Amino acid sequence: MYEKFRFLTSGESHGKCLTAIIEGLPSGFEINPDFINQELKRRQGGYGRGDRMKIESDTVEITSGVRFGKTTGAPVTLVIYNKDFENWEKIMSIYKEDENDEKSFTKYRPGHADFAGSIKYNHKDLRNVLERSSARKTAIETAVGTVAKEILENFNIRGYSKILQIGQSQNQDEFHAEIDKAKAEGDTLGGKFVVIYENMPIGLGSYVHWDRMLDGRIAQAVMSIPAIKLVSIGNGEHTCDLKGSEFHDEIFLENGKIVRETNNAGGIEGGMTNGENLQVFATMKPIPTLRKTLRTVDSKDMQETEAHFERSDTCAVEACAVVAEARIACVLLNEILLKYGGDNFEEIMKNFS
Ligand SMILES: Cc1cc2nc3c(=O)[nH]c(=O)nc-3n(C[C@H](O)[C@H](O)[C@H](O)COP(=O)(O)O)c2cc1C
Repeated sequence: MYEKFRFLTSGESHGKCLTAIIEGLPSGFEINPDFINQELKRRQGGYGRGDRMKIESDTVEITSGVRFGKTTGAPVTLVIYNKDFENWEKIMSIYKEDENDEKSFTKYRPGHADFAGSIKYNHKDLRNVLERSSARKTAIETAVGTVAKEILENFNIRGYSKILQIGQSQNQDEFHAEIDKAKAEGDTLGGKFVVIYENMPIGLGSYVHWDRMLDGRIAQAVMSIPAIKLVSIGNGEHTCDLKGSEFHDEIFLENGKIVRETNNAGGIEGGMTNGENLQVFATMKPIPTLRKTLRTVDSKDMQETEAHFERSDTCAVEACAVVAEARIACVLLNEILLKYGGDNFEEIMKNFS
């Protein structure tokens, strides 16, 4: 009922391609594949990414729902081909006769979906869990979110992110050195970032039901990004360090207009945007695949052993921030469409203005 902008994705990490079908886009909104590709490039970049990202150069193909640069109102399909698939064609084959165990593994990787996923879906080869649980799918999610981001620009809503911490360092000048050090030690790092959306209209979200509260919706969207372990809005992480008189953003008048001098609420009060910048903070755990191996159990013989290692990032906080910008864009566009709803550009822009 409260989903106007919906999408599903499919695709495996080393499969042929990643696909998304977006439903609920009105007609007449401009979509530029170059903008999507720029954001995909941002997601692939960032210091500390592994060799896989050197193989891929993610480019989106739009195969439906857009004609002559504008949405038609039909479902929009996005596809990203995995370049690496040419090396995995037999390993990821859909055909029974190609069955092989070249890249099979049975040693659970701590911090990954391997253990619970193999029990849930009854897989002996943990590759079957890895392929879909991998963060590779965040590439197509970023493409979807960038479509949302581009549409949000019509409402002057713009988002960006900033890296605040890598490992224990909060000093930007040290970030690369911290990552180099972790890499040399065969280790990995997490970090913290903030996503900011500016020019928020007042009243997106609602206080009337738990599942319409915008802070809850944003938290779900960001918390479900692989490796995100903490999400907070505004000064939420430090909320209990302050007294009420210090925390709450007092309301003033300036030339007859409501203004605030602080934004500890991060732009949301009572589950709704209050017109201030939306500020979402998120913390990513260290990448769970390490060269300095972790102890685990081999499901094949139930003996203790060391975890399976596969080419991996040392740190992916910058990429993760791009994914979070995209996920939040999806939540915001959904709210925009609910509030200013209509089937085409003109109708929606009229309602908005
Ligand atoms: C952009 C991005 C890149 C990631 N790259 C890797 C990686 O190279 N190796 C790895 O082990 N985990 C990587 N992760 C994290 C895992 O996907 C994640 O920790 C794992 O799927 C388990 O999910 P959970 O941490 O949410 O429980 C990445 C996450 C993101 C968002």
